[in-house]
Amino acid sequence: MDFIHIFKRSSSPKKICFLLLHGTGGDEKDLIPIAEEIDNSVAILSPRGKVIENGMPRYFKRIAPGVFDLEDLKFRTKELYDFIIRAKVKYELEDHKMITLGYSNGANMAISLLFTFPNAFNAAILIRPMIPFEPKENINLKDKKILILAGMFDELVNKEYPKRLFNLLIEYKAIVEIEWIPYGHNLTFDDIKIIKNWYYKNF
Ligand code: MLT
Repeated sequence: MDFIHIFKRSSSPKKICFLLLHGTGGDEKDLIPIAEEIDNSVAILSPRGKVIENGMPRYFKRIAPGVFDLEDLKFRTKELYDFIIRAKVKYELEDHKMITLGYSNGANMAISLLFTFPNAFNAAILIRPMIPFEPKENINLKDKKILILAGMFDELVNKEYPKRLFNLLIEYKAIVEIEWIPYGHNLTFDDIKIIKNWYYKNF
């Protein structure tokens, strides 16, 4: 278990686990209050990104804001996928639905996982995502439920990214919803309200 991480066992018969992927400069504790606000009874697996940029943890290297080191991304995606597979065995999560909640850099890592190892999780909540890369071939994301939360005034993410991501995911047959929040890159109470509605509608 080489990722520093938090695991919290489920306290209900619901077989659901949130996989939490934080933003740049965050850590494994960051998204726990949000996951607990959505559903306090399910399991939580929250790994800390291993790449350090000026003291700030993240999930893969970047050359500049929004310019990614794709070699490193490929390596880190496989490394995180292997961790998820090991954790599923260790924490007896194999029969659980995995719902990934990724914010910013964590959302971008979630997309890389989805495009590379579509069986890594069952559903995803992507908060302020970009598109780290586009697959060369169509992939099959049938039955994957995905919620994209985009910021209308996001100062980091160009609006074309969430729009393109939505269309790509539709092409790949995922069940996608996109919501535009009237704020910037920060996570807001509006995000949490929308996530809760989506979660209880789907799970
Ligand atoms: C990224 O590096 O994944 C994006 O630029 C978002 C961020 O972490 O700032």
